[in-house]
Amino acid sequence: MNRFSEPPDPDFDAINRSLDVDKRLWPFDVAQSRAHVAMLAAQGIIGAEDAGVIADALSAVEGELEAGIFPFEQSDEDIHMAIERRVSEIAGEAGGRIHTARSRNDQVATDLILFTREAAASSIAAIERLIAALIEAAESHIDWALPGYTHLQRAQPVYLSHHLLAYVWMLSRDRQRFQFVASQCSLLPLGSGALAGVNFDTDRGRVADELGFEGVTANSLDAVSNRDFIVDCLSASALCATHLSRLGAELVLWSSQEFGFVELPDRWTSGSSLMPQKKNPDAAELLRAKAPRVVGDLSSFLSVLHALPLAYNKDMQEDKEYLFDGVDTLALALAAATGMVEGARFDRDRMSEAAADGMIAATDLADLLVRRGVPFRESHALVGRIVREALAADRQLSSLTLDELRGYSTELDDEAVALLAQDGWLESKASEGGTALVRVREQLAAARALLG
Ligand code: ARG
Repeated sequence: MNRFSEPPDPDFDAINRSLDVDKRLWPFDVAQSRAHVAMLAAQGIIGAEDAGVIADALSAVEGELEAGIFPFEQSDEDIHMAIERRVSEIAGEAGGRIHTARSRNDQVATDLILFTREAAASSIAAIERLIAALIEAAESHIDWALPGYTHLQRAQPVYLSHHLLAYVWMLSRDRQRFQFVASQCSLLPLGSGALAGVNFDTDRGRVADELGFEGVTANSLDAVSNRDFIVDCLSASALCATHLSRLGAELVLWSSQEFGFVELPDRWTSGSSLMPQKKNPDAAELLRAKAPRVVGDLSSFLSVLHALPLAYNKDMQEDKEYLFDGVDTLALALAAATGMVEGARFDRDRMSEAAADGMIAATDLADLLVRRGVPFRESHALVGRIVREALAADRQLSSLTLDELRGYSTELDDEAVALLAQDGWLESKASEGGTALVRVREQLAAARALLG
């Protein structure tokens, strides 16, 4: 027998078991075990023959896991124990040597860092797909006008291309954040043992090379208790999901009958069970709602880490649920956003009608007065009065005559009439980063360069 005189309480098992969650780490667990065993043999810590038997058993186990026929048992607390148990069943006595110079503490840290490295790479690829979809949509709607909003009030017109490209810049920062996450996954924790290092002449560098790490961790205590890369990954995921929630919110508004700016593709919407005319933007709504969930994963996991003494504590077992949920939720949100952007059909007339609202030229009128030497505050107040009186008379600014305008200020002349009548509002925003077409074309080139 061992140290214990009674079997675990079933509820202890239930609270202690992580197998159902950490099962999906198996490919990383097999890969690190393979590298570990090869190193043990190369260092003469275990015999070459035993190492061969273990390697074969690992391949058999890998096959079973891949095929979904791995015989899990109730006593398997986590994926590490399940794999080790099965390797021993297959390899016999040699299997008992796989865990030499290794602890589940450095083992789980290694699985997690390998998982996170891969998750960062997939997030980057998915972000790039969305960036490509946005660039394509921007290109094909380069000069389609729509109102730009502040406070959700029509403010100044912009081109749809300019609006869509705004998301490209958010996403390019998200991509950088995931590149940082990957950089935080570059040192191998394996070989740190339970917390203090191991009593064997291991070659950690060899294992690191084999598993694609740049080097090995410098401090065994830190190595087994470091989950910063998970925090980094959840933080990058939370912000990216938050960006997507803003896109989702706009798609919900824009696809409403009130706006009518866009029709979402059928395959990304649902019908109502009651009202046959309805097409609901469920996926766009869920882009809004999934973001707080990822933020919750981040904040919950930070709370788990809070005030934990060094080194490993079982609390840290909870890391996986948050990490997996955050990564999976973001992957789904990115796929949905990409699908909706790719299939969106914009309504040029509805958008330009909304953008042609004469009131929207008010800022340009104020700027004209400023160019004529009127102080900005004064011109702002004057144009505010013109807008108020036009609204009271139920008139558009573009219907004001030269005489009427002159009545407000002698500085308002033919140019003011032309300014209100024409829709050169967009093209006048030619400052760097502005919505004028020359600037949008520059932006598109820079955005395309992002994807290399
Ligand atoms: N399932 C555990 C986890 O995910 C593995 C490490 C267990 N280590 C230990 N000393 N009990 O954290």
